[in-house]
Amino acid sequence: MEQLLNQIAAYKSEIEATHISDAKQAEEFRIKWLGTKGIVKAVMGEMKNVAPEKKKEAGQVLNEFKLFVEGKFETFKSATEQQQNGNANRIDLSLPGDEVITGSRHPVTLMRNRIVSIFQRLGFAVAEGPEIEDDWHNFGALNLPEHHPARDMQDTFYVQQNPDWVLRTHTSSVQIREMEKGKLPIRMLMPGRVYRNETVSARSHCFFHQVEGLYIDENVSFADLKQTLYFFVKEMYGKDVKVRFRPSYFPFTEPSAEMDVSCFICGGSGCNICKKTGWVEILGCGMVHPNVLSNCKIDPNKYTGFAFGMGIERPAMLKYGIKDIRLFSENDVRFLKQFSSSI
Ligand code: PHE
Repeated sequence: MEQLLNQIAAYKSEIEATHISDAKQAEEFRIKWLGTKGIVKAVMGEMKNVAPEKKKEAGQVLNEFKLFVEGKFETFKSATEQQQNGNANRIDLSLPGDEVITGSRHPVTLMRNRIVSIFQRLGFAVAEGPEIEDDWHNFGALNLPEHHPARDMQDTFYVQQNPDWVLRTHTSSVQIREMEKGKLPIRMLMPGRVYRNETVSARSHCFFHQVEGLYIDENVSFADLKQTLYFFVKEMYGKDVKVRFRPSYFPFTEPSAEMDVSCFICGGSGCNICKKTGWVEILGCGMVHPNVLSNCKIDPNKYTGFAFGMGIERPAMLKYGIKDIRLFSENDVRFLKQFSSSI
């Protein structure tokens, strides 16, 4: 009995000296003391060696020891549980946030949006059409009948499977589609990708982008065309930029003109961009040819209109200082992420 009491006292001080720091150690504690082959069970087994008159006292001591160990284990367990919950719920507000990688718009899109938003303020709406066109919409209806020499002005990609199909060489084809709808007046803008069979170099590509415009109503004159384009130039390049019209030729407009602006790089004194002329050509325009109106079942005696068309890549190259047109279509993120996404 004496021996048993001493043993229990030793176990107690061993337990008092035990420290555990995680759930694994708590479980080890349980197995060592309270498991089926644990110490508490073994000590309980000593009961059979105790003399009968001491059994009552020994039973109390052993029971108390068992409760003591169980209580200790509960304390360890709840401490480690609290620790785990604490870890899961704790938020470290000093940690740096996750990086949010934002995309950026393509420079051609930026320039397109800029051009479109200026004309939208004048009431122009946007129209789009197919990039694979039939001969009629790309040429015929635009006063370019078969074998017309002006077809050579634009080197055309033909679609092998169908001799009537081409990759559109300009978005004037969308003008025809709008006019064919027969809803007048028309005040439309046609942005989109166009294709021409040209050698790819730093300055020209086999596809590029255009914005064309079309305005048809009663009593539309060349003065309306000029005022509209003056407004555009002022908004796009600033109020100090000068404008000049040069007579030109397009089969679908009569009269036709090309519009230049005074070089916004050198201010007109002559540089590499304007090839020392002081002027930069930015668009073609003219009054819609009566044949084109007739082709679309619009009465040319009642309605007149103007049209214009400009490339997007060239003004984008000038604005952003891009030296090679091929960069636009190489999908190099290092190039693309440089442009501000403000519009
Ligand atoms: N379609 C012409 C081109 O692609 C541009 C243009 C459009 C000219 C409308 C006059 C009127 O070059």
